[in-house]
Amino acid sequence: MLLGIDVGTGGTRAVLIDRAGKVKASFASEHAGIRSEHIGWAEQEPEDWWRAAREAIAGAMAQTGVTGSEIEAVGLTGQMHGCVMLDADGAVLRPALIWADQRTQPQCDWLTEKIGFERLIELTCNPALPNFTLTKLLWVREHQPEIFAKIAHVLCPKDYVRYRMTGEFAMDMQEASGTLLLDVANRRWSAEVAEAAGIPMSWLPRLFEGPEICARISAAGAGATGLAAGTPVAAGAGDQGAGAVGMGILAPGSVSATIGTSGVVFAATDAPTKDRLGRLHTFCHAAPGRWHVMGVTNGAGLSLRYFRDTFAKESSYDELSARAAEAPAGCNGLMWAPYLFGERTPHLDPEARAAFVGITASHGQPHFVRAVLEGVAFSLQDTFTLFAELGVPVRGIRLGGGGARGPLWRQIQADVYGHPVDLLEAEEGGAFGAALLAGTGVKVWESVEAACAATVRVAETIAPRDADVMKDAYARYRRIYPALREIAGR
Ligand code: XUL
Repeated sequence: MLLGIDVGTGGTRAVLIDRAGKVKASFASEHAGIRSEHIGWAEQEPEDWWRAAREAIAGAMAQTGVTGSEIEAVGLTGQMHGCVMLDADGAVLRPALIWADQRTQPQCDWLTEKIGFERLIELTCNPALPNFTLTKLLWVREHQPEIFAKIAHVLCPKDYVRYRMTGEFAMDMQEASGTLLLDVANRRWSAEVAEAAGIPMSWLPRLFEGPEICARISAAGAGATGLAAGTPVAAGAGDQGAGAVGMGILAPGSVSATIGTSGVVFAATDAPTKDRLGRLHTFCHAAPGRWHVMGVTNGAGLSLRYFRDTFAKESSYDELSARAAEAPAGCNGLMWAPYLFGERTPHLDPEARAAFVGITASHGQPHFVRAVLEGVAFSLQDTFTLFAELGVPVRGIRLGGGGARGPLWRQIQADVYGHPVDLLEAEEGGAFGAALLAGTGVKVWESVEAACAATVRVAETIAPRDADVMKDAYARYRRIYPALREIAGR
């Protein structure tokens, strides 16, 4: 058996798979939630992730009756970018600032000024964004110097759980790409960025490729989890990297569109693709020798949840979807711009605001729901538009997350992308990909490519039906954001 652990935002999931890649157990334990002392702040307690990880591991083992000694290897994944600060004894110094925290725009501006926008992209392939780890460290230096003075180690969320299980400070290349401290093109820490930012290199953990075995379960880790001491632990990847492995997105041309709370369009590449304007994230892939680019829409599944909670509390998602299917493609001109939490790709604008546009008295609830589903797909299409601009090839598109579960949202995606979309037989998220990385680390499969070839299968392909209508609608959607910006006087 192989164990994959996904330290997500809402909770931690543990998945056990066998050597054929079949999921044998899956158990999740919820986190205490996100603490938000001020608008835009988002913090979590690392100790709570460790508690949830222990519960998830125990739950998955209990489901199958597997004992620690039957688990060959462990792989980790989780929410990316979070900043966990430890002192010289390995004690947590303050709650972690997580990926969703938006407070660090002033630190982004400072860093961009210090290094230069173009130079920063040359060094790290990415611009300074509030989501990224380094900018969170800079905030602590400015606002809590007494805590900053005690920092001896910096980790991301899943790497903290690894530290508790093994005593090792380690991070994989894909995760490290989201810190803004990695020289993404050369797969090593960027001494130049660290020096310019004033961050000692000694704080940074050792770097590994995703499938590399970087640590072993310690005696203390074994006592806490029921795993056997000495069990190998693979480096793993951030949730997007491990999720892509679980969906078989490795070769250039393979792309995934995943609609969860946020929405991500992810393309594998065989070299780092630099966007001069920094609109896409360019990261190392979880597979050695590969890279990826991705665009992120902040309010994807969140748009539908917001609509339901605000306007249709009594309805289930299935009921809403069934009603939306009564409205025609293009919703007779009604459109939704999903910028409920600002937007990352392509606008990089934390201040962006959402809007329904084009309402007439003939529009009813079905049109509104369908407009939300279409608007989210348009926002993901913005990433495909950038891919076309930058020459990133798109040959196959695989759907993941909640957006892959209902027939209507799948069809809307095929129509908006103007491209057939594939559904996978089993889509288990990042924990499954982390287990595949662990299996590769202990040579169950000879490479990440072999692991995916053996375990990931397409169940169905959905062809576009209303691509022409959606192409026109998308052209009109593109004009909403500039108008909203103007209305806001910006
Ligand atoms: C990726 C990103 C999210 C988080 C939370 O850039 O911000 O995927 O990892 O899931």
